[in-house]
Amino acid sequence: MSRIVPAAAAACFFLFALAGGASGAQDLKPIPLFKPRVEGGRLLLSALKDRRSSREFSPKKLPLRVVSHLLWCAWGVNRPESGKRTAPSALNRQEMDVYVITAEGVYLYDAAANLLRPVVAGDIRAKVGRQPFLGEAPMVLLYVADLARMGNMSDDVKITAAAVSTGSIIQNVYLYCASEGLNTVAVGSVDRDGLKTLMNLRPEQRVMMAQCVGYPKSVR
Ligand SMILES: Cc1cc2nc3c(=O)[nH]c(=O)nc-3n(C[C@H](O)[C@H](O)[C@H](O)COP(=O)(O)O)c2cc1C
Repeated sequence: MSRIVPAAAAACFFLFALAGGASGAQDLKPIPLFKPRVEGGRLLLSALKDRRSSREFSPKKLPLRVVSHLLWCAWGVNRPESGKRTAPSALNRQEMDVYVITAEGVYLYDAAANLLRPVVAGDIRAKVGRQPFLGEAPMVLLYVADLARMGNMSDDVKITAAAVSTGSIIQNVYLYCASEGLNTVAVGSVDRDGLKTLMNLRPEQRVMMAQCVGYPKSVR
């Protein structure tokens, strides 16, 4: 694992912005994430009371500490002894990958290493789909199922199971955002073919959904 400490990575998190389109991941560095502090947050019922979709985002970037906690809530390892996650998956196949799309580039959340791995440099947020808020949110999460990890289930069962896993992760993110005063919206209307090409995905990888996250517009 990289020896860069999260604080140093936080400082350089936003230094790799490239004007224009996507390019190779060599322009980006892996970003170690903060270890989650799991005793924080609001009461679950209070977060559920405030869970909602919001489509307005401040351009203010999310600190790496917030990104770290959000990703752990989304799909982090919550039982290191077994490697199991904060969201369920059929037969524990853990078929989901969470990609983090920012103005700087696309990263893959490596939950076991607690690290963001560079995938593509450059800003592709506005290419995720047609709704304008996709290009305005400082972070767009992309949920991709790797059907190759799901063994010999039928294709029908694979897609159903991946959709359930995706929904579970999405709700984890909704609840974290409600707890932390962040805005978020799940987005099914995404350019699946375009993203597969931009992110060099394999044929067995299925783009499921996206989810925008950011501060409310009033936050500067
Ligand atoms: C499977 C699914 C797909 C969705 N796709 C979109 C979308 O493409 N664009 C959008 O603005 N909202 C999308 N949403 C958010 C819904 O519009 C939203 O959840 C719904 O209006 C209810 O509002 P609430 O989340 O505040 O309760 C989607 C939600 C789900 C569950």
